[in-house]
Amino acid sequence: MTDRKEPQTPYEILGDQGIKDLANAFYDAMEELPLASEIRAMHADNLDHVKRMLAAYLTGWMGGPPVYLAVKGTICLTEPHEPFRIGPKERDQWLACMDEALIKIEATEELKQMLKDPLFRVAETVRNCEDSKPKNDGPDIIAIG
Ligand code: HEM
Repeated sequence: MTDRKEPQTPYEILGDQGIKDLANAFYDAMEELPLASEIRAMHADNLDHVKRMLAAYLTGWMGGPPVYLAVKGTICLTEPHEPFRIGPKERDQWLACMDEALIKIEATEELKQMLKDPLFRVAETVRNCEDSKPKNDGPDIIAIG
């Protein structure tokens, strides 16, 4: 027998309440951060529903019970985001809110490091367009014929 601790999942570290706190802090950050104003404007005025849905999603995603799957029958995030134009700028606004939320709930540096790359990857899967087209650099479409 050794005293070595098994690595914990983010779910084990945060627990159900910690994940709810994170989802609430995330949308509070979206309300408060001027840099997130564009993605805030995509959302409904009342954020209560989406706070609950994000907490449900993150519970399964962080290694806990698949609450979102039980409600929606899928964990695919493509469809709920389809109506919105989400490029690298919107993805980065979302990630900035998550950084702020992790600070607000006083997450440890270890947890922040553990989540950094996976959060980038999940936000990248939600991205549904590229918005890096050059400005004032000629027409977007060249008509032929
Ligand atoms: C990448 C940038 C993202 C943007 C701009 C974005 C934006 C949105 C918007 C506008 C909605 C609809 C909210 C409403 O109905 O008022 C939504 C819903 C949602 N988003 Fe995102 N989102 C992003 C990334 C993510 C990521 C990475 C996750 C999960 C880790 C996520 C989880 C959810 C969930 C669970 C819902 C609710 C979906 C449902 O009702 O089933 N989003 N998001």
